[in-house]
Amino acid sequence: MYASESASRYTITAIVLHWIVALILVVQIPLGWWMQEIAKEPIGPRADAFNLHKSIGLTVLLLMVVRLAWRSTHRPPPLPPMPSWQAMAARSNHWLLYLLLFVQPLTGYLGSAVSGYPVRYFGLVIPSWGVKSVPLKDFLSVAHLATSWVLVAAIALHVAAALKHHYADHDRLLWRMARRRGEPASARGESDPIDKGSPNPRRGSPAA
Ligand code: HEM
Ligand code: HEM
Repeated sequence: MYASESASRYTITAIVLHWIVALILVVQIPLGWWMQEIAKEPIGPRADAFNLHKSIGLTVLLLMVVRLAWRSTHRPPPLPPMPSWQAMAARSNHWLLYLLLFVQPLTGYLGSAVSGYPVRYFGLVIPSWGVKSVPLKDFLSVAHLATSWVLVAAIALHVAAALKHHYADHDRLLWRMARRRGEPASARGESDPIDKGSPNPRRGSPAA
């Protein structure tokens, strides 16, 4: 048995990436809504907000590449006992979240690339390759908007499920994505594979 199979938590890398991306999204989604309310004249504040949104969004894309690479080589811990439909729903929603966190920044970036405006990453101009296309930009904007609402719904379901497990079921599910401070794993009566980040040599089907 691999260490990750006997572990009760995600690896520290997975935990850190999970919470960084979650925190970023708490800012990024309202920023996407709010920035469009900014007046078009003078151009400065609106452009600054759009550029910030684009930079943060591209950062999410980079983090998700790292996260997917980590996830595909590190198996998550087994779920606590629960009805099989719940386990399946949790896994499906996790994979949906992964998918959306690629589609969302990609539709944003591709839409911006064909908008005729340069895309900047925290001030650095990304070489443009797209020709300006209004119909394509409109299509990608609709895709970006639609994906954002699916993402909001998937996050809401995910958070509600996590809180239900914590406060109603009182199982240890939430701790799988956390590390209690100041308490060594041995004191908690667990083997602590977190820092070792045990590799998964792609055995069996991945759980979410
Ligand atoms: C995970 C990453 C991202 C999230 C969660 C996100 C979320 C959002 C949201 C919620 C909106 C408002 C949609 C609406 O109500 O109309 C929006 C708009 C927008 N986003 Fe993003 N976004 C992300 C990444 C990006 C990236 C990487 C770019 C470009 C490089 C981008 C460019 C835009 C633009 C230009 C708009 C204005 C509407 C449009 O022209 O499509 N976004 N985004
Ligand atoms: C806000 C945006 C969030 C996103 C996009 C998100 C995304 C994800 C994803 C994709 C996973 C699966 C990880 C994997 O298998 O690699 C996961 C797991 C988990 N998340 Fe979140 N999460 C968010 C917020 C939260 C919040 C606020 C909580 C707590 C209230 C939470 C609690 C958990 C727990 C406990 C797990 C492990 C569940 C399990 O193993 O079945 N997440 N999250």
